[in-house]
Amino acid sequence: MLFFITRSPESRGRKAKIPPGMLSKFVAMFSAAPVLMFIVFAMTGVLSVDYAVYGSVAILGSSLVFARPYLQNVAALTRYVDDLAQDRTTEQPDLSFLSTEGGLSESVKGLQESWEKKKQQLESMLSEREILVDTLPDILFMLDIEGNILRTNSAARAQFGQNLAHRPFAQVVDNPELIDAMQKTLADFNGRGLEFKLDGEGNHTFRARIERFPVHSPGGINVIVSLHDITELKAIEQMRADFIANASHEIKTPLASLVGFIETLRGPAKGDVEATERFLGIMAGQAERMTRLVSDLLSLSKLEMNADKIPDGKVNLVSVIQKEISHVEWKAKDKKVAFAIRLQPHLPEVTGAENELSQVLQNLIENAVKYCNPSSTISVTADVTTDIPPGNNLPTQVAVRVMVEDESEGIAREHLPRLTERFYRVDTARSRKAGGTGLGLSIVKHVLHRHRGFLHVESEVGKGSVFSIYLPFEAA
Ligand SMILES: Nc1ncnc2c1ncn2[C@@H]1O[C@H](COP(=O)(O)OP(=O)(O)OP(=O)(O)O)[C@@H](O)[C@H]1O
Ligand SMILES: [Mg+2]
Repeated sequence: MLFFITRSPESRGRKAKIPPGMLSKFVAMFSAAPVLMFIVFAMTGVLSVDYAVYGSVAILGSSLVFARPYLQNVAALTRYVDDLAQDRTTEQPDLSFLSTEGGLSESVKGLQESWEKKKQQLESMLSEREILVDTLPDILFMLDIEGNILRTNSAARAQFGQNLAHRPFAQVVDNPELIDAMQKTLADFNGRGLEFKLDGEGNHTFRARIERFPVHSPGGINVIVSLHDITELKAIEQMRADFIANASHEIKTPLASLVGFIETLRGPAKGDVEATERFLGIMAGQAERMTRLVSDLLSLSKLEMNADKIPDGKVNLVSVIQKEISHVEWKAKDKKVAFAIRLQPHLPEVTGAENELSQVLQNLIENAVKYCNPSSTISVTADVTTDIPPGNNLPTQVAVRVMVEDESEGIAREHLPRLTERFYRVDTARSRKAGGTGLGLSIVKHVLHRHRGFLHVESEVGKGSVFSIYLPFEAA
């Protein structure tokens, strides 16, 4: 294994110092016996006192000189072990005096290699766990016994901001039920789950899970709180409930009227030919309304089922526009409404399903006739354009555009984003009176989505509206 040892600033230039105690002990140990011998020789007269003193000094001096390099090696080894224990970067000590060939130096080198390897393994394990925790889509908080945040993952930081560590959890996620559940789990070790709504930006709804560790982790983590964002799920649930409520309501109204007329025809109006004729006309209108509603609902559900299947037919929008205008001409005449039609010559065909694009243009043209001012003009324009409103992901830089422009009361700005919601009507009574179900623009949106196009609405109160559709332009 290849590894590089860098000297830490502290270790660099630090020459191992022999502790004074060690040097004196070593010298004392090795010179004690000969010095004692010189003393005995001097006392017994075998040697003169002068020679005994010279001999003793020579012994002390030589043991000091010879012991020094060994002791320096021992001190270097001590420092090295100390550096390893303190997790400091260090370099292999010079053990030339202590070691023999293949001896202590090799063992120390082996120790350093295995220590480095273990350290790297540990670091990579930790970073793997860090990455795992960070890439979890759910929000994670790891708390200490006091309920303070010790660690978080990136989902938590993205939602609740950076620098969460060491802050009280209750301060970061301000929800009394959640804090209460967290404190109960801290006290009784029982995991808990709950749903809660966070006031503020986005009004997020979370499903929370709180678990307490049986014993706290070495890092002091006692409790884990995970939050799963269910805002979208809740919105879908709500939409589904609204949809059922709206659909039932739309069906209930004409149905109640039918039941009423049947009772009248059987009772008070029995035999009244004129009343029967009139009531049957109204009943036919209500039945037609229900039929339209059911067929619109079926269209929507079919479009949803096939949302990802791009239709592959070729559609000539010019002939579709002309056909749809001819269908509403009689209604337009009633309101004295004129059409100004501007179709670019040789408008390229678009890829799509003709019946679906007919449905789109039928609704836009019908709406214009329904909601425009009497004796006004409706302009229908079709062209190829590069002037595409931003923020819509059309797959091409060029679009085939059809614009239906009316002169009317217009639509207030706050309604514009909601127009394509199912059953959404600016003026419900007016739309109902005109036989509308409020599903038309929702169908338009789905059809255009399936064709990789989009609807763009501009409106000015008191002036009128422009409903434009954009479809991808494909060069022949
Ligand atoms: N050209 C327009 N001018 C003014 N308001 C419009 C126009 N087109 C649509 N709206 C408003 O948008 C609402 C939704 O339109 P949408 O076409 O979805 O439903 P509808 O026309 O009421 O019923 P349906 O199309 O199902 O018969 C309408 O009820 C109306 O309030
Ligand atoms: Mg409509």
